[in-house]
Amino acid sequence: MNDCVMNDCVMNNRLVQKIETLVEIRAMVSDWKQAGLTIGLVPTMGNLHAGHLSLVELAQQRCDRVVVSVFVNPLQFGPNEDFDRYPRTLAEDIEKLAALQVNVMYLPSVAEMYPNGLIQTVISVPSAITNVLEGAIRPEHFDGVSTVVCKLFNMVQPDVAVFGQKDYQQCLVIQKMVHDLALPLEVVIAPILRDYDGLALSSRNQYLSTDQRTIAPKLYVALQDVALAIKSGNQNFNALTEVAIQRLIAEGFDSVDYFQICDAKTVQVADMNCPKIVVLAVVCLGGTRLLDNIVITLSGAG
Ligand code: PAJ
Repeated sequence: MNDCVMNDCVMNNRLVQKIETLVEIRAMVSDWKQAGLTIGLVPTMGNLHAGHLSLVELAQQRCDRVVVSVFVNPLQFGPNEDFDRYPRTLAEDIEKLAALQVNVMYLPSVAEMYPNGLIQTVISVPSAITNVLEGAIRPEHFDGVSTVVCKLFNMVQPDVAVFGQKDYQQCLVIQKMVHDLALPLEVVIAPILRDYDGLALSSRNQYLSTDQRTIAPKLYVALQDVALAIKSGNQNFNALTEVAIQRLIAEGFDSVDYFQICDAKTVQVADMNCPKIVVLAVVCLGGTRLLDNIVITLSGAG
């Protein structure tokens, strides 16, 4: 039995094909399409955790072949952000994808992705979505995301692409781009995978100290409490937000970048008539930014 498992592992390792160039990914995709196979794409920046892997499993359920791209995209990092320090853990990532029998890892270099440098055509989703919340704090971040995702779509030509609700605003940006540009694929949004105590899994959680790790899950508790209050009919969104921010600071978070009750369709500040609401929050703990959200469908909403 053990031998079997070992052999499988070795076989699985061989099954993850690493592709680094556009020419090769195009050839692979063209073979698959000729054989009538459907293709799923999971775009990532690597340093994979169980949250990423849940997206991969969803893609595998939906498609015959799955490509996981790992590309730390310089275009979506601001000048003072952690592009150079972003954790790159290729060997571990390969092992995790091998265990899931992923078909192809697409690993373009920066030169392969941006052959003429970073001054290039950019996809820009309207500012109503991209200049608020995360976009207000990280100008041009979403232009970098939509540009690289559009490019990955053109390179891999997937039937389905899977993204995580963890990055709620990013999902809206990509859905809007796909709709506006009539891109021929389906965008699937996967639920947020959480640790045993509710903390949303994230590559950045590894930076938390033991003390900070005990504080971190309180963000999700605060989100759940606000969701419960709204579901129970509390419509005083300003007061709910204010109380939540004060509570997070009292519980030990260093600052709150935002804690906002929004219309789930538009990420504009919600009014009382919104049928579907998302509460979006980013807090800072030590040097770590923690991002989370919760979606609330109000009863009676269509
Ligand atoms: P990255 O941060 O690596 O995330 C890759 C995907 O994993 C995203 O769709 C993200 O929402 C999802 N994800 C992260 N944590 C998750 C969790 N706890 N549960 C479920 N899904 C989770 O997001 C990016 O990369 C980049 O912006 C990218 C889309 C790849 C473009 O460069």
